[in-house]
Amino acid sequence: MSTRFRIISFILLQSLRFSLTISQPATTQYPHVQFPCKRPHNTYPFCNTTLPIKTRAQSLISLLTLSEKIQQLTNNATPISRLGIPAYEWWSESLHGIATNGPGVSFNGSIPSATSFPQVLLTAASFNRSLWFSIAEAVAVEARAMYNVGQAGLTFWAPNINIFRDPRWGRGQETPGEDPVVAAAYGVDFVRGFEGQNSKGGAGGGIGDGFGGKRVLRGDGGGGSGAGLMLSACCKHFTAYDLEKWGNFSRYSFNAVVSEQDLEDTYQPPFRSCIQQGKASCLMCSYNSVNGIPACASGDLLQKARTEWGFKGYITSDCDAVATIYENQNYTKSPEDAVADVLKAGVDINCGTYLLRHTQSAIDQGKVQEEDIDRALLNLFLVQLRLGLFDGDPAKGQFGKLGPQNVCTSGHKKLALEAAKQGIVLLKNANKFLPLNKKGVSSLAIIGPVANDSSNMGGGYTGIPCNPKSLFEGVQEYVKKTSYAAGCLDVPCNSDAGFDEAVLIAKEADYVIVVAGLDLSQETEDLDRLSLLLPGKQMALVSSVAAVSKRPLVLILTGGGPLDVSFAKGDSRIASILWIGYPGEAGGKALAEVIFGDFNPGGRVPMTWYPESFTKVLMTNMNMRADPSHGYPGRTYRFYTGDRVYGFGEGLSYTNFTYKLLSAPNKLALLGPIKADFSENRLHWRGDTLDFIHIDEVATCDSLRFYVQISVMNDGDMDGSHVVMLFARVPKIFKGTPEKQLIGFNRVHTISYRSTKTSILVDPCKHLSIANDEGKRILPLGDHILMLGDLEHSVSIGT
Ligand SMILES: *[C@@H]1O[C@H](CO)[C@@H](O)[C@H](O)[C@H]1NC(C)=O
Ligand SMILES: *[C@@H]1O[C@H](CO)[C@@H](O)[C@H](O)[C@H]1NC(C)=O
Ligand SMILES: *[C@@H]1O[C@H](CO)[C@@H](O)[C@H](O)[C@H]1NC(C)=O
Ligand SMILES: *[C@@H]1O[C@H](CO)[C@@H](O)[C@H](O)[C@H]1NC(C)=O
Ligand SMILES: *[C@@H]1O[C@H](CO)[C@@H](O)[C@H](O)[C@H]1NC(C)=O
Ligand SMILES: *[C@@H]1O[C@H](CO)[C@@H](O)[C@H](O)[C@H]1NC(C)=O
Ligand SMILES: *[C@@H]1O[C@H](CO)[C@@H](O)[C@H](O)[C@H]1NC(C)=O
Repeated sequence: MSTRFRIISFILLQSLRFSLTISQPATTQYPHVQFPCKRPHNTYPFCNTTLPIKTRAQSLISLLTLSEKIQQLTNNATPISRLGIPAYEWWSESLHGIATNGPGVSFNGSIPSATSFPQVLLTAASFNRSLWFSIAEAVAVEARAMYNVGQAGLTFWAPNINIFRDPRWGRGQETPGEDPVVAAAYGVDFVRGFEGQNSKGGAGGGIGDGFGGKRVLRGDGGGGSGAGLMLSACCKHFTAYDLEKWGNFSRYSFNAVVSEQDLEDTYQPPFRSCIQQGKASCLMCSYNSVNGIPACASGDLLQKARTEWGFKGYITSDCDAVATIYENQNYTKSPEDAVADVLKAGVDINCGTYLLRHTQSAIDQGKVQEEDIDRALLNLFLVQLRLGLFDGDPAKGQFGKLGPQNVCTSGHKKLALEAAKQGIVLLKNANKFLPLNKKGVSSLAIIGPVANDSSNMGGGYTGIPCNPKSLFEGVQEYVKKTSYAAGCLDVPCNSDAGFDEAVLIAKEADYVIVVAGLDLSQETEDLDRLSLLLPGKQMALVSSVAAVSKRPLVLILTGGGPLDVSFAKGDSRIASILWIGYPGEAGGKALAEVIFGDFNPGGRVPMTWYPESFTKVLMTNMNMRADPSHGYPGRTYRFYTGDRVYGFGEGLSYTNFTYKLLSAPNKLALLGPIKADFSENRLHWRGDTLDFIHIDEVATCDSLRFYVQISVMNDGDMDGSHVVMLFARVPKIFKGTPEKQLIGFNRVHTISYRSTKTSILVDPCKHLSIANDEGKRILPLGDHILMLGDLEHSVSIGT
């Protein structure tokens, strides 16, 4: 192109821009924000919004040189200046609010903070699906606002839906807990709310209980890969990831040995639902190996997500999880082999720089073909196109009006408060000690190293909260005369030097609250616990204070991991125990409202609280099922056979509830719908009785579905929400059958001395089936017991 021609075309473009400016009065609100397809780079087919997105993506790929293609395969994608494409940072984080962890997010700009919701495990404890959806939606609004002003990307790496398998896991706090049904439901609601799908959670819940979500966004006709996205959510970490650093084991080299049975009924259900019902646009493969193959190099796992579950989106490696295949797992002989393995397996982008650095030599060595890269780029560009990244100025797009005024709104802050209140779990309340009478408390002492620390309320993956208040400030709003002592210098609590001061204020106060438990010094990414007891001398602090206080005290437990607090459970000088997880920026107010009875607690622990003796179990043993011959007690409420401090789903209220089963069938007949080929011997007889049937041989699973109608009576003098959980105990046809399994749950609002009705859907093929040792789902025949609190109801399934 001659210089003169360039000048002429420049003038032409200038005048074109001028004419367009007059015909479109809207101007860019944030002139420093860069975006692709900005004039004069808006004439490429990939910028043409009337073309199908696949055509646009393919056109973009066709314009790139091999070296430009390779430079896209990293989280910080290189700009392609000649096409007007700025750098794009794929890595932003938002587990429970916009977090600082990903380089895609900056709080340095017109948005200095964002709403900090409770860490996920506490929000999960609310068992309230519409709350989960609403939080994801609120975080998405703040994320889009931050994107619009150039402070965040459009692709976020949340939710974390790994099963909280071992109580020592440092990242259990980030997850919805130990139950696959709950984790699946949480993942679906989070992704729907976050990606902008218009469907609130509601009745039912359980593996595969999708709701026909109606999309409200622009796109290529709704549903599937063409549908527009408000933001992109990422189901992570695929799969069987739940060990950070324990003893000599590290997540970077750990090989999770997992049975087909455990994969099918524990590790995979949340991911399957996240993709099938949630329609997530991203999947992240984990560091660990699964049965000898690093997850990011496992074509079997990644392809299954696409072909069997219909995944349409991009697959990212966890950060540096390509490098670790060679450097930590020692799985390949060279970096190029690691690169080739992940690209052939189906990874599209590498968080980290390994693909950037080694793909060219992998091509030179004939280990990777350009088509492999084109395949990855197609997945990447399709997601960016669905997000509207190539539609021009974001300020003029569908979400262009979102800005600083939509962040830290009173609505979002109220939701953060609501989430903390709904999640808080009352574990002990002897003689109805709580709630305290607001007017009857003349003075209060609050003791504990984190009680006056508002900087650390969110746990891992926190950003900069709007206006956090400490627990101390929260209770002070109810009782002016509140004194505070740390007791321990910090959470590790290696010294009792602060005990005297704590004892002193405890002696003088009318009522005493002690805040004990965990923070990120005990449990976090890259750090698992070794003990389940309170850290350091914390237990001694609690006991010293309990020994001198005028009345029994209130013990508040913080953190994600369950604690062995048997000492407190049995100590009459400790009247009440509340678990508050990491309650987020509104945790102080939430706790005070619960303590003083302005809110009736209804949260339930989403994980089993094991005794300290559990720590003799190897954390590396991935088996869910107990193995008594080796002294292995199994894991989670479904399989664990040992003693527990608190069980999955435990949690008290200031009132009592009683149930009635209003309707449920006694018999279900499989007659007719069996499509088994008898010659294949796929039906399983024992004598004259049919034992079980493979669910893929039940022709009409849908016709077996029924609703259980339930009435919940509030027998106390306080209104409050109550979580109804329906479990099943299926016939024990072989060892390894769960003790019980969750069918579904509903959080219902109840009124004092009145009953409320609710219903839970039972889909026998999903909820009453179990995985056999080949990982195939079978439906046992015979008596299935539905369990609702202490009520049991038998449903006989036969032919
Ligand atoms: C966009 O694509 C449509 C359909 O191919 C075409 O008619 C139109 O001219 C294109 N617009 C631009 C600006 O190239
Ligand atoms: C914040 O942004 C300003 C202007 O872009 C820059 O000068 C400053 O260094 C940034 N500060 C931090 C802490 O990143
Ligand atoms: C860690 O490795 C060392 C040296 O091989 C060994 O002595 C020790 O028992 C191991 N610890 C654990 C917890 O496996
Ligand atoms: C991989 O190799 C490195 C260095 O050769 C070694 O330190 C490490 O222990 C090996 N890791 C595994 C999981 O074998
Ligand atoms: C509580 O923390 C705040 C902020 O760090 C500090 O200013 C205040 O002195 C602390 N209060 C007590 C009683 O220690
Ligand atoms: C609930 O019922 C039990 C057993 O009747 C009783 O001991 C307890 O005090 C009641 N709790 C509340 C909060 O009413
Ligand atoms: C569930 O959460 C939503 C959103 O905060 C709230 O409006 C609703 O009352 C909650 N439901 C119950 C039964 O607590």
